[in-house]
Amino acid sequence: MNLILFGPPGSGKGTQAERLREKRGLRHISTGDLLREAVANESDLGNRVKSILASGQLVSDDIILALMRDVIAAVGEEGWLLDGFPRTVGQAKGLDTQLAELKQKIGAIVVLNVRREAVIERLSGRRTCTNCKTVFHVKVNRPRVEGVCDRCGGKLVQRDDDRPETIARRLDVYEAQTQPILEHYRGVVPMHEFDGEQPVDEVTRSIEHVLQ
Ligand code: AP5
Repeated sequence: MNLILFGPPGSGKGTQAERLREKRGLRHISTGDLLREAVANESDLGNRVKSILASGQLVSDDIILALMRDVIAAVGEEGWLLDGFPRTVGQAKGLDTQLAELKQKIGAIVVLNVRREAVIERLSGRRTCTNCKTVFHVKVNRPRVEGVCDRCGGKLVQRDDDRPETIARRLDVYEAQTQPILEHYRGVVPMHEFDGEQPVDEVTRSIEHVLQ
């Protein structure tokens, strides 16, 4: 099954994606992770997008659609789980075209709803593994050893864009440019909305219940 995880920054897309990937064997594709990897590797793409990521603005649709074309085409029968893409109506239309060419469909959209205040609290406490990208939170989802990833032993760091002023900008961008995608797909693709402010395990259970 092909799924899109949708929600504001910090709504738990990455957290739930990891669980859905493990349970359903889906290929987790996060545009944010791909872009941060390009920045870390100092590739041409990374150098072009570095300052955009740090500012909380969106990378252009052309760059994102070119990046995603091959990534989605390379996924086999296991199906994909998109996290952070599409992020504008232009990207959604581009994705629709790519999927039509590949004879693939979006199985469902999983929407995580979280209030703005909760997002700010979450993102300012988030820590991410530099190695396997697993996310933790300094209060509600703490690693067993401070600063060390439970999963792979990697170092946990704060993302450059998880600073208060950048978080606010990312939320504004989400409301203006990303939320309208829901209207693009409403009535066209099955859409399931969840209270993303429930505890992590509870959110996972609710998603699994609906997807079964
Ligand atoms: P991206 O990496 O996609 O970031 P995002 O959408 O802002 O989402 P986050 O990764 O911040 O949050 P999340 O929803 O995954 O939450 P998480 O699970 O980590 O994008 C970054 C940047 O890249 C963009 O700003 C843009 O510049 C660029 N970009 C990416 N894609 C693009 C595209 N398609 N087009 C253009 N530009 C693009 O959880 C957050 C925290 O909360 C964690 O600490 C976690 O432990 C905790 N938490 C999770 N669930 C719960 C829960 N239920 N209860 C309590 N705490 C929880």
